[in-house]
Amino acid sequence: MKEVKIESKLFVFDNLEELPRDIAGLMGKAIKARSRAYAPYSNFQVGAALLLDNGEIITGNNQENASYPSGLCAERTAIYYAGSQYPNAKVLYMAITATAKDNPTKEPIPPCGACRQAMVEYEIKQHAPIAIYFMGKIGAVAKSNSVSDLLPFVFDKSVLF
Ligand code: THU
Repeated sequence: MKEVKIESKLFVFDNLEELPRDIAGLMGKAIKARSRAYAPYSNFQVGAALLLDNGEIITGNNQENASYPSGLCAERTAIYYAGSQYPNAKVLYMAITATAKDNPTKEPIPPCGACRQAMVEYEIKQHAPIAIYFMGKIGAVAKSNSVSDLLPFVFDKSVLF
């Protein structure tokens, strides 16, 4: 038996003001997107914005459904739209913000496992990391240099063939 250990890193900014200007701008778009979330069942609102290497910014938010599992997270709404509109563009950064509607979330909220799996597909496809910045409603912003840092022991296409 041997132990397999994977290390991953997060970088934490104290607040929005500490972010590089372009990233703060992207987070601003995610915050706008969050305000348009359709989340009448959970009242948990999530917004995502991503910057493509062609300069386009794509945003998305969570879209819930009376049939609960039919809803979709903000991150996948955004990245699937980007993939469908700009199949050859690379995703450079994604900014995510999430909060309970009635109780401002003060700590960084990382994307769920299903979103990490969806996002890592594009990172692998484009042969370049996607930096992920995530926050609650206020407070610290965490940065992961890549989706794979958020998803150790990834399931990927290499096992399919
Ligand atoms: N949600 C997201 O949009 N992204 C995540 O990474 C986690 C959860 C949404 C799904 C659902 O609409 C609500 O947040 C509560 O789970």
